Amino acid sequence: MSLLFSPFSIRSVTLKNRIAMSPMCQYSAQEGHVTDWHLLHYPTRAVGGVGLVIVEATAVEARGRISPEDLGIWSDEHLPGLRELARRIKAAGGVPGIQIAHAGRKAGTSRPWEGGKPLHRWTPVAPSPLAFHEGWPVPQELDQAGLEEVCEAFQQAARRALAAGFEVLEIHMAHGYLLHSFLSPLTNHRSDAYGGSRENRMRFPLTVVEAVRGVWPAELPLLVRVSASDWVEGGWDITDTVAFATELQRRGVDLLDCSSGGAIPGVKIPLGPGYQVPFAAQVRLSTGLSTGAVGLISEPLQAEAILQAQQADLILLGRALLAEAYWPYRAGRVLGAKVWPVQYERAF
Ligand SMILES: Cc1cc2nc3c(=O)[nH]c(=O)nc-3n(C[C@H](O)[C@H](O)[C@H](O)COP(=O)(O)O)c2cc1C
Repeated sequence: MSLLFSPFSIRSVTLKNRIAMSPMCQYSAQEGHVTDWHLLHYPTRAVGGVGLVIVEATAVEARGRISPEDLGIWSDEHLPGLRELARRIKAAGGVPGIQIAHAGRKAGTSRPWEGGKPLHRWTPVAPSPLAFHEGWPVPQELDQAGLEEVCEAFQQAARRALAAGFEVLEIHMAHGYLLHSFLSPLTNHRSDAYGGSRENRMRFPLTVVEAVRGVWPAELPLLVRVSASDWVEGGWDITDTVAFATELQRRGVDLLDCSSGGAIPGVKIPLGPGYQVPFAAQVRLSTGLSTGAVGLISEPLQAEAILQAQQADLILLGRALLAEAYWPYRAGRVLGAKVWPVQYERAF
């Protein structure tokens, strides 16, 4: 029996299979608002059989956008578009999820196809006043009032995600963005209660988790995406991630989505098929927390093997789903599982 096509229940939500669309910025929003692009892009993957569709990094503050074209959730004005997006994903048979994010010192860049370089339109914020790279802005160091403001923004974003009808919430703590930059000693040089020891560096991200869990209903799943390793000597590593996972679990996080990298530029990452899967496996084994595997997973048999080896509970697909919106349909044929017909009665 295929595990990839077996249901997966977290709290009151049941995914019809273990295939999730990994959050991927579309750089197609207007002032944070959903556009026609999103309304076609995401529901199409749900029609294609994806069990959980996680909408891209959606900014909790305007200054926390990676690019000015990122989706936003910092205002109630974003709600109608997000509501329609969640409704359409659900109508097409998928569970609607969303990633809430703050880009920290990596905020305010042009779109990748326009160079992905800093636009210097606003001053980003970070744990420490360290520019990401030469030519990048020096971020403003967050003080206590600033930390409270950002925490509140994450909490408000969670409330709005719920109001919009999303059923799975993921907090972005990876790829060198704000919350990852608190965790990593490479980017967090603070000497107050939020810097120094690992316990201190985890403090702000854990405060955000508590604030979010406090408003995100107990019956709905909460996911966190981490960079399980900075891939740098002296950086955040898998041992830190396991310790962090234990703390997240205590605070009601249901699944750790294990990505890696992004804290600093110029790092050599040993890319290869499933290269981040060992992180998901180790967290799962060491803590018992459910995990998601992501990164260069592109083939149905590869995805199935990860689940059979109990390395992860969920498979997140990024570029494979950009290239092939109906990937699950093909995977179903390979693994002998019935994907179609989509339940049309749910659609209308
Ligand atoms: C166009 C694009 C946009 C992305 N945007 C996000 C994002 O918004 N949030 C995030 O956590 N990861 C983002 N990622 C990373 C993916 O979610 C995924 O982790 C990565 O592409 C590796 O998986 P893959 O090999 O299946 O593509 C993005 C990747 C791509 C290609």
